[in-house]
Amino acid sequence: MGSIHDALDKAIQNAELEKENLSPLKNVYQDQVIPTYGIHYRIDPDLMRQRRIVTLHNYNAESEAFRMLRTKILKQLRDNNWNSFAITAPTQDVGKTTVAVNLAIAMAMDVNQSVLLVDLDLRHPKVHWYFGLENEVGLRDYFLSDKPLSDILINPGIDRLTVLPGRGQAIGSSEILSGPRMKTLMNEINSRNQSKIIIFDLPPVLATDDVLSTVDCYDAILLVVEEGKTQPEEIKKTLQLLSGKNLLGTVLNKSQNPPEHKSY
Ligand SMILES: Nc1ncnc2c1ncn2[C@@H]1O[C@H](COP(=O)(O)OP(=O)(O)OP(=O)(O)O)[C@@H](O)[C@H]1O
Ligand SMILES: [Mg+2]
Repeated sequence: MGSIHDALDKAIQNAELEKENLSPLKNVYQDQVIPTYGIHYRIDPDLMRQRRIVTLHNYNAESEAFRMLRTKILKQLRDNNWNSFAITAPTQDVGKTTVAVNLAIAMAMDVNQSVLLVDLDLRHPKVHWYFGLENEVGLRDYFLSDKPLSDILINPGIDRLTVLPGRGQAIGSSEILSGPRMKTLMNEINSRNQSKIIIFDLPPVLATDDVLSTVDCYDAILLVVEEGKTQPEEIKKTLQLLSGKNLLGTVLNKSQNPPEHKSY
């Protein structure tokens, strides 16, 4: 009987709170799940799909592959008490940003995980393009014009996901990335996002020293290689340059033999 009374009391209490739009459930959702900061943008999932962002759409082989990758990476991060990783590759155009955006969305879709995706490619920032964002400012403005993060962060309307996009090309990126403003950025990011996974989209390792300037900013690295294009020698050089950094694993992208989905 006691439990029925308790349940009734709770129901009445909830109904009253609901009237005031203060349902305890909604509050938990708003406080803990939906990012409370960032400029709001409405994304277009079909446009993103055309740009190979597949994780907004469930139940296809491509998004299944990203969910599998997400779960493997989350396990490694939790096992090691890490909360940040960077995505890079030996060379350009292999699909780093495509992987970063898909993975960030797949991770945010895990109900327990909030994610911040940071576009740290100051020469060719493209994260915003994959989301179809028309942001006027980006991380370059944080570094070069002292724009506050609150004016740059974007909430793309995907629960638990916040994006720190780039915009335009920053001259002197390697000096910027190893300079004092970068340390300030990392302090700000880390203090505001303690329970979030932070994913950094990086430029290629072998093209410039930008990646080497950032290695102290994250716990681990995910390497993307392109089937039929990335050479073993390039992977070897990359691993030598990043030696000492934790390697989460390697993504073989643009494969001619993608995994079959069927009913499993
Ligand atoms: N799995 C894939 N299959 C086919 N095309 C792909 C795949 N992944 C990415 N691409 C395409 O490859 C091109 C480069 O992708 P992306 O911008 O992600 O590469 P990147 O490595 O980040 O490049 P950059 O070095 O310029 O930063 C894009 O046109 C993208 O759509
Ligand atoms: Mg890129």
